[in-house]
Amino acid sequence: MQFQDFSSFKAVARLALLAREPHDLTTVDGLSAQRIREFKVSASGFDLLYGTQRITPEVLSALQDLADESGLINTFKAMKQGAVLNRIEGYACENRQVLHTASRDIFEEAPGSPDATTKAKIELTKLNAFLNDIGSGRVVNAKGQTFTTMVQVGIGGSDLGPRALYLALKAYSLPGRSARFIANVDPDDVAEVLLGLDISRTLFNIVSKTGTTLETLTNESLVRAALIKEGLDPARHLVAVTGEGSPMDDASRYRATFYMYDYIGGRYSATSMVGVVTLGFALGYAAIIEILRGAHEIDRSAEQRDIRKNIPLLMAMLGIWNHNFLGHATIAVLPYSQALARFPAHLQQCDMESNGKSVTRQGESVGWQTGPVVWGEPGTNGQHAFYQLLHQGTEIVPVEFIGFRQNQYGLDLEVEGTSSQQKLVANMLAQSLALALGKRDDNPARCFSGNRPNSVLITDQLSPRSMGALLAIFEHRITFQGFCWNINSFDQEGVQLGKVLATKLLQLLATASQDHPEKLDQECLEKILLQQAQMM
Ligand code: F6P
Repeated sequence: MQFQDFSSFKAVARLALLAREPHDLTTVDGLSAQRIREFKVSASGFDLLYGTQRITPEVLSALQDLADESGLINTFKAMKQGAVLNRIEGYACENRQVLHTASRDIFEEAPGSPDATTKAKIELTKLNAFLNDIGSGRVVNAKGQTFTTMVQVGIGGSDLGPRALYLALKAYSLPGRSARFIANVDPDDVAEVLLGLDISRTLFNIVSKTGTTLETLTNESLVRAALIKEGLDPARHLVAVTGEGSPMDDASRYRATFYMYDYIGGRYSATSMVGVVTLGFALGYAAIIEILRGAHEIDRSAEQRDIRKNIPLLMAMLGIWNHNFLGHATIAVLPYSQALARFPAHLQQCDMESNGKSVTRQGESVGWQTGPVVWGEPGTNGQHAFYQLLHQGTEIVPVEFIGFRQNQYGLDLEVEGTSSQQKLVANMLAQSLALALGKRDDNPARCFSGNRPNSVLITDQLSPRSMGALLAIFEHRITFQGFCWNINSFDQEGVQLGKVLATKLLQLLATASQDHPEKLDQECLEKILLQQAQMM
């Protein structure tokens, strides 16, 4: 694999020229029926409608050239086969393989990275046995009662993806089962989750790849204290997901331990044990296999070179067009599904922790924009909140809409001739058109400039399988962009400084509160800040 500076690609120069006059969607045939039909790609049950982007066939072919020139598919295939892509040449770095795809490569006779997939299968078999023991009453509390709730304690990648997927698929929960999540070191997070919970029938799943994360270890202690207070044995109620050999890898402290491996990054770990233990408890083993199947289907289809056939690759290239060439700094992911309420938060970590980088794979400063700011909320709620800015603000925000033709619970009613699901989908499509086409009006305050790029990703229903596929679409959209920008999308050095300083400030705070236990007033906090700043 040969990584090259983004600015050195011939296609970049060509795209810069094309960006001087991007397609005008607001003209009479700016969005023709033919364009809507032609600018559509389908894979694994999903359709991506992208006629509402400011692209022409010429732009598409230049984006294809960029994907080819930067060798995106070769790098992607190499990633799946275990290439050491988590590295910065010549500098101290994690120096690891990137193998989240191996955790769902379990359906192939010849997986891309056989060792990693074998390990994934071993953990899945262990999990299946554990879930069977819970289901059949072999794993029970001290009174012989079954467990009804699993609380996942973890943060960042050990929380966001699993939480987003659980909320997305809650409709498919096994009878009498549910999951909750604790992430923040804010003690109120633990308190609120424990409130009203029957902890005697709860399993706490402590998830930390490194086994060293301050928030998670602190919250584990709070949970242990709560169990002891109720006269319960923590070792009976706690399970762990961690890296083999991590400080948390201690069988005496947990009822069961599941492993994840250093070649799976936290933000890409939802389909590893980090996600599937809690998801398996709440939804059942068969559902998690469906999630893995959906993700794996996309892992395979993402190997296609033709951007017109490859959804994540096309989304990556459209994102680069909007960000690097049309100059749009942020991107909104707007799911028209309440169940996907936390999916944008998961994507924020996945995208911004991956591509919020300023040095190349060779350790040089980048001379081009890398990852955009990612944000979003479900529609239609967002329409009554921030869509004003999307339609008429000075900041143009490209949008990735996500929608479903059917709802999950099957509970719906026709009101004034249409169902709620129809209203939901109609609203999503209306927003897509309004952003793209705009509207002229004599009253300037009622003018809509249009030409606000967006795409619609739509499938039949949010199910375990389509959720797995959706997750993989976004994971690969993000990694393709990182490869193209010649950055390492798999480390997270940027979170270290704050962590180190927090530990030092905590020590100063502890000393200050020993001296003045009665108060931690403004004067005291200022003194600590100054002390720390002078030490830097
Ligand atoms: O602080 C960032 C981070 O390292 C993330 O990358 C990771 O997902 C999160 O912390 C949690 O890490 P762990 O699973 O090791 O507790």
